[in-house]
Amino acid sequence: MTAIAGYTLGQDSVPRAPIRWQEFEELEQSVALGEEDLRYLRLAGEILLPRVEELLDVWYGFVGSHPHLLAAFVRKEDGKPDERYLAAVRRRFGRWVEDTCAARFDQAWLDYQFEIGRRHHRSGKNRTDGVAAAEHVPLRHLVALIAPIVLTVRPFLAQSGRPAEEVDKMHAAWTKAVVLQVALWTWPYTRPEDF
Ligand code: HEM
Repeated sequence: MTAIAGYTLGQDSVPRAPIRWQEFEELEQSVALGEEDLRYLRLAGEILLPRVEELLDVWYGFVGSHPHLLAAFVRKEDGKPDERYLAAVRRRFGRWVEDTCAARFDQAWLDYQFEIGRRHHRSGKNRTDGVAAAEHVPLRHLVALIAPIVLTVRPFLAQSGRPAEEVDKMHAAWTKAVVLQVALWTWPYTRPEDF
């Protein structure tokens, strides 16, 4: 396995999450994520991981077909999408699918969520890949993209041939895990007392 450039989950370079563990547990409760969801996330991983490149094609196709989204990957210098940046992020995005399905929701995972939040925000965007692209991903689009990221996964789960009830449960677990993460990623966009 080759290392994924810029992927730093579990490394000392990732600052500790700025919230207390109890606050994280309360957030888990708010998305109603429980033990059963963890089992269904693992099952979803078995289906999604062998097809992760297809899934990334769908997501990258979606972003690429909307200029206001692709703008996040556009170089300031010449106004063109930075292919190297897109490719580097794609590898970490693939790993994120794996991490989401395998998540144990431990401290290292929690710390990395704040890192991903910073990487979308002007306080950390572009630094990981040393690029000079758009400075910031707007919060409203971070939240809005939850819809396609959640809905586009369903056909993949359904095509596994698993019983409908299991597909529903995998999809629910995936939805909860994505919403939980994006909730954490909003940190740099808010004042601490508003978070
Ligand atoms: C539900 C919403 C979203 C999810 C799940 C998501 C997921 C991810 C993941 C997993 C990464 C890589 C994290 C890492 O470095 O390990 C990433 C990076 C990135 N995403 Fe998103 N993202 C979302 C919304 C958006 C939106 C709306 C845009 C704007 C088009 C966007 C643009 C980017 C960019 C430019 C990077 C690279 C940031 C950098 O390190 O410079 N993302 N995203």
